[in-house]
Amino acid sequence: MDDRTSASNLTVSSSEQSAYRGGSPLRQRFPTIAYLREHARHHIPRFAFEYCDGGAGSDKGIARNWSALDAVELVPRYGVMPSLPTCEVELFGRRYAAPIGIAPMGGPALVWPGADRFMAQAAQKARVPYVLGTVGGLTIEDAARLAPDVLWFQLYRMARNDHALAFDLMQRAEAAGVHVFVMTVDVPVRTTRPREVVVGLGGGRFSPDLRMILDMLRSPGWLSALAREGHPRFANLKSYAGANAGTNEVIAFARDEIGGAFTWDQGHHASGRCRARHRARRRRHLGLQSRRPPDRSAAGLDRCAAGNRSRGARPRNHSSRQRRAQRHRRGARARARR
Ligand SMILES: Cc1cc2nc3c(=O)[nH]c(=O)nc-3n(C[C@H](O)[C@H](O)[C@H](O)COP(=O)(O)O)c2cc1C
Repeated sequence: MDDRTSASNLTVSSSEQSAYRGGSPLRQRFPTIAYLREHARHHIPRFAFEYCDGGAGSDKGIARNWSALDAVELVPRYGVMPSLPTCEVELFGRRYAAPIGIAPMGGPALVWPGADRFMAQAAQKARVPYVLGTVGGLTIEDAARLAPDVLWFQLYRMARNDHALAFDLMQRAEAAGVHVFVMTVDVPVRTTRPREVVVGLGGGRFSPDLRMILDMLRSPGWLSALAREGHPRFANLKSYAGANAGTNEVIAFARDEIGGAFTWDQGHHASGRCRARHRARRRRHLGLQSRRPPDRSAAGLDRCAAGNRSRGARPRNHSSRQRRAQRHRRGARARARR
């Protein structure tokens, strides 16, 4: 019999029962995610809610994910476990408080201005992975300051110029102390998410029409957050799109750059190039981002570690980045002329 009666006698702490008396007021208002979702539906502009809440096609993928999660049955061990089991886990050589984290999201600041920062800080506090997206709203360097122990970085495929932009982002990430790279392998083309299309976000530009402006006016909390935090931006790509590029120019730049599907070979090539370039002892890892469970070859790539520059490496200075971006743009223009 599995007898764990000798395990230490932990009592449930107030944070673990924080939806009850003694818990935080926020937890009492929103004891589960479902309450937060309902609140958001009525307190943020409709286009922001639909952007975040909608899935591809008819939302069948979301429904399937929910059923798969609901089908997980937790088997209780009555009478043998006087203490709570730990949820701690080691992922890619580092310990985290739980085997879940914050998935990469382009434009969370559209849902709530400043959201990128809040999520990075929350993940650092909770000691769970925070995956900054290529098109997230924080620069890698800022994210590393906010979430130094838990920061992962997600890469879309940006194959132009022999992946120059992607490698530059990877170098910045390594210099800033990012521990894991996550390559998104399942978005060869932009999927249609009809709920964001019908609310006016499908045009490839952010230009609010009258309906969207009215929506914003009906969400005063969101508007004042916007006034405090400024417009959502693709912070990591902005410097490559040009020093004076506006939001829509950066969006256009991102659309031109990102596309196609990574192959496993490209994943290995990326890790190999990093290994060849950096000879430090601390290891970086290449993860995968896919809406499906990885197959065997994916598991192989998961374990593929890339070397890192020295421990004390500092973020590269902006001017050298700009010079590289200029070279990158020149290359792109030359190709376009050809
Ligand atoms: C609004 C939104 C934006 C997203 N942006 C990105 C992104 O920039 N990069 C990425 O790799 N995945 C992105 N994803 C996918 C998520 O990281 C995640 O894999 C997906 O939503 C499935 O997880 P879920 O079932 O918990 O939503 C996005 C998802 C949503 C809903």
